[in-house]
Amino acid sequence: MKLAVFASGSGSNFQAIVDAVEEGRLQAEISLLVCDKPGAYAEKRAQTHGISVFSFHPKEYSGKAAFEEEIVKQLRQQEIDMIILAGYMRLIGPTLLHSYEGRIFNIHPSLLPAFPGKDAIGQAWRAGVKVTGATIHMVDEGMDTGTIIAQEAIPVKATDSLQSLTKAIQAVEHRLYPDTIQSIIEKRTLEGSQIKNEH
Ligand code: GAR
Repeated sequence: MKLAVFASGSGSNFQAIVDAVEEGRLQAEISLLVCDKPGAYAEKRAQTHGISVFSFHPKEYSGKAAFEEEIVKQLRQQEIDMIILAGYMRLIGPTLLHSYEGRIFNIHPSLLPAFPGKDAIGQAWRAGVKVTGATIHMVDEGMDTGTIIAQEAIPVKATDSLQSLTKAIQAVEHRLYPDTIQSIIEKRTLEGSQIKNEH
């Protein structure tokens, strides 16, 4: 199973996925990092682990369809099976969605459908919720919508600050995302072998 991870920033989730592969907890190959912010720290992490990077400036293309066509080309070259969004702060357009239908996943730092979009942890913090969390879902054309695959709740403690809450959510994300990707792969491999056996 060949994965491409998409990131726009620090890439700590990307790192957690790479670590899980290197430790054998995730049976996949991370073949490509796609980054829409050249110079982002995620790129450095990829270089450290010998992972190819496709990084681009969206503004240098005529629009989303144009840069997504280029991304699809890169993904096909690397024979990518699955796309893992890890802090890729951009809506996926029809070009990518149709090319990888049902094979694009995202992580979001809230209990969706609460607090979609940017700064989900800050949104939850300002709303004063007592429980928040992390969600992994399939990607559709919406903003942090799509079928929910896994969720974990995290209590907001009276002693928490925005910073400590952010840390707690990230710690959950770094465990939940690799584990969930492994479950998805196992389920699909099983389904694939069942389909083959029926023929
Ligand atoms: C993560 O917390 C991820 O859930 C969030 O961006 C952060 C990226 O951090 N994604 C979204 O908000 C998507 N709407 P990272 O670059 O350190 O992995």
